[in-house]
Amino acid sequence: MEKLVITGGKRLEGIIEISGAKNAALPLMCTPLLTDEPVVLTNLPRLADITTLTDLLNHLGVTVTIAGGDGTGSGGRSLTFDASNIADTVAPYDIVRKMRASILVLGPLVARMGEATVSMPGGCAIGNRPIDLHLKALEALGAVIEMEDGYVRASAPRGLTGGEVRFPFVSVGATENILMTAALAKGTTTIENAAREPEITDLAKCLTGMGARITGAGTETITVEGVEKLHGTTHAVMPDRVEAGSYAVAALMTRGDLLLKNARSADMQAPLDVLAEAGAIISSEADGVRVKSNGNLQGFNIVTQPFPAFPTDMQAQFMALASVADGASVITEAIFENRFMHVPELCRLGADITVNGSSATIRGVNSLKGAQVMATDLRASMSLALAGLVADGDTVINRLYHLDRGYERLEDKLRAVGAQIERVND
Ligand code: EPZ
Repeated sequence: MEKLVITGGKRLEGIIEISGAKNAALPLMCTPLLTDEPVVLTNLPRLADITTLTDLLNHLGVTVTIAGGDGTGSGGRSLTFDASNIADTVAPYDIVRKMRASILVLGPLVARMGEATVSMPGGCAIGNRPIDLHLKALEALGAVIEMEDGYVRASAPRGLTGGEVRFPFVSVGATENILMTAALAKGTTTIENAAREPEITDLAKCLTGMGARITGAGTETITVEGVEKLHGTTHAVMPDRVEAGSYAVAALMTRGDLLLKNARSADMQAPLDVLAEAGAIISSEADGVRVKSNGNLQGFNIVTQPFPAFPTDMQAQFMALASVADGASVITEAIFENRFMHVPELCRLGADITVNGSSATIRGVNSLKGAQVMATDLRASMSLALAGLVADGDTVINRLYHLDRGYERLEDKLRAVGAQIERVND
């Protein structure tokens, strides 16, 4: 089993190149299903989740090949996705169970092939994560939904027609699924209470490049004029705002100074505002966002909400920051019902955290003490790595597969700016 061993106490200084965003890449990788022409995606991160989705696309008959250099010199990978021959419309349980974002193939397959059968994704560590909003939205466009043996079967033998979709609450995935589907539905679709995350805007930009007719992406109301056919395109995946935010926390916790290359401050204004309140000096530079410590570290309060408010994907990382800040902080998780599993592990490192329902109160301590800890989910594992950067002695993080789902070359990037961190094999 691989582990990360981090020896705390090193100040981080230098440049970290931010990779393409996992949560943009996953829906973007489903757009090729909408056309029989090749789609090239550049700046793809090298992550386990990308590999899992590539396996699913291969299973469906999509060929995925290394594309020639895109000339931008971006660190990410360029891949060509060719879905000219979809051989299967079934996404099997043994692939879907590894990554619930697989549900994002459902809408595009129905739009292109008239039918799709996708294993129910099931819950995950942070919550049971239903897909009812995805299914209701597809029904609003005329799809017939049947559930059988743990699979969702969606069909639209006579094609899909545009319709009114109104989400009772914001869902990133459901917005992405219906946005892709509506692009090929006959007529107009309006999506009310749509997610406004930058990943939605990036997806809309790619779809528009394929010939889709979309207005309002990034706002709460998106309108899509369906078209007969979409064509291929080349699209660069946006930088990962969650990776950038995680390293911004590392800069502040170690009282360091990091330039987060390629990061875009507009994608992460809410977390940057909290960092500034906590003691960071933030400047937007031509090639990224610079975060340096002003020498203090003050407590803060957070409530996670859909974009542009504070993102749930940065909650665990900011809890590590609060653990060593002066004073008390209160963090409320309002999106997922079980996203505090990093709390007991942070407490093993000496953090003083009490949870009361969906709120955690963190009283800053003078220092954390290294220990063996267990990663439980993707962002929780990053929270433990951040705590390890400032803990006295060695922190050993087990179950690294959680981390590898969402952070590309974490130890290389941190070591390059001064961290003492090793990946070891048991
Ligand atoms: C996306 O998940 C992200 N994943 C998550 O990031 C992120 O935490 C989440 O959006 C919120 O920002 C990807 O983009 C691949 P939702 P998604 O639908 O789309 C409930 C990470 O760490 N809900 O916006 O699944 C749901 O249970 C991951 O990178 C329903 O009830 O999130 C949750 O409580 C973790 N029914 C809330 O809505 C539905 O049909 C928001 O979920 C859909 C969602």
